[in-house]
Amino acid sequence: MAAPILDHLAALAEPIRTRLLLVLEDRELTVSELCTVLQLPQSTVSRHLKALADAEWVASRAEATSRLYRMSRNGDPATHRLWGLVRDQVSASPAAFQDQHRLERVLADRRTKSQQFFDSSAGEWDQLREELFGSHVHLSGLAAFLDDNWVVGDLGCGTGALSAALAPFVERIIAVDDSAAMLSAARKRLRRCSNVELKRGRLESLPIDNETLDAAALTLVLHHLPEPAHALREVARVLRPGGRVLVLDMLPHDRESYRQQMGHVWLGFSEAQMSSYLSESGFDRVRINPLPAEPEAKGPALFITTARRTS
Ligand SMILES: C[S@@+](CC[C@H](N)C(=O)[O-])C[C@H]1O[C@@H](n2cnc3c(N)ncnc32)[C@H](O)[C@@H]1O
Repeated sequence: MAAPILDHLAALAEPIRTRLLLVLEDRELTVSELCTVLQLPQSTVSRHLKALADAEWVASRAEATSRLYRMSRNGDPATHRLWGLVRDQVSASPAAFQDQHRLERVLADRRTKSQQFFDSSAGEWDQLREELFGSHVHLSGLAAFLDDNWVVGDLGCGTGALSAALAPFVERIIAVDDSAAMLSAARKRLRRCSNVELKRGRLESLPIDNETLDAAALTLVLHHLPEPAHALREVARVLRPGGRVLVLDMLPHDRESYRQQMGHVWLGFSEAQMSSYLSESGFDRVRINPLPAEPEAKGPALFITTARRTS
């Protein structure tokens, strides 16, 4: 049996193949792009690509109806050294220079196509984005900004929608709620999330040890609590120093009926109220932002507040 290096020498002993490898070293190209770069017919390019693929110098993958080729990355050190020697020699050739020149044109064409698309579709992009990917894709993806070491509290978790959205991105979630029915719905939703711990308990006396959480979220729950500042002091107790609290709730509104219908104690909170609740409960760096209205939403306007537990 011949030494493997001799097979590699045979595969490389053809100028077209080394030209192909030079342009495929750092990028993927289609056969038609390779034909343009090397100025060769498709049958010739395909034949040499096949020889390179058989010798494992080139790998390919399908993308929709195209096939993309690039130089193989799984070579052993000897192959790597051999290619280094060959490349030094062949990259200085006039043919390689011409290929490089045409390659830049092919890559510029790719950019032009996408630029033309955006230049012509700026007016419709928002609608197209929503049609293709939905209206909230950017927001659900933002959870990936969270630190993957974090332990997060979902306090007043209800049916566990927030826990489900955050679980893939953090170390652990402790989800607490006072209602057995809500917790049972949350258990069902979160059955595949092994890093979410569901606990029954009240926000006013959380079943969580001191300084356990890196962050705590209270979404649409504070307006149910008779003494919001008291609950926020309890949240400060279970956060580590510097830990973050996030409160999502309603801005002041006049829907008195919510008291009877849904047990609301407070008809929303003003920015000044939230600021004073948080600062008297052991938080600083308070930030409050009204949220943009969702076109289809019927409820009162919302705000989002974040603050840090004072160190
Ligand atoms: C309107 S739901 C919001 C649920 C969830 N956070 C969401 O955004 O979908 C309010 C939740 O807070 C819970 N809750 C109300 N008062 C509570 C308290 N004092 N302690 C713990 N949970 C409470 C309720 O059981 C309910 O599940």
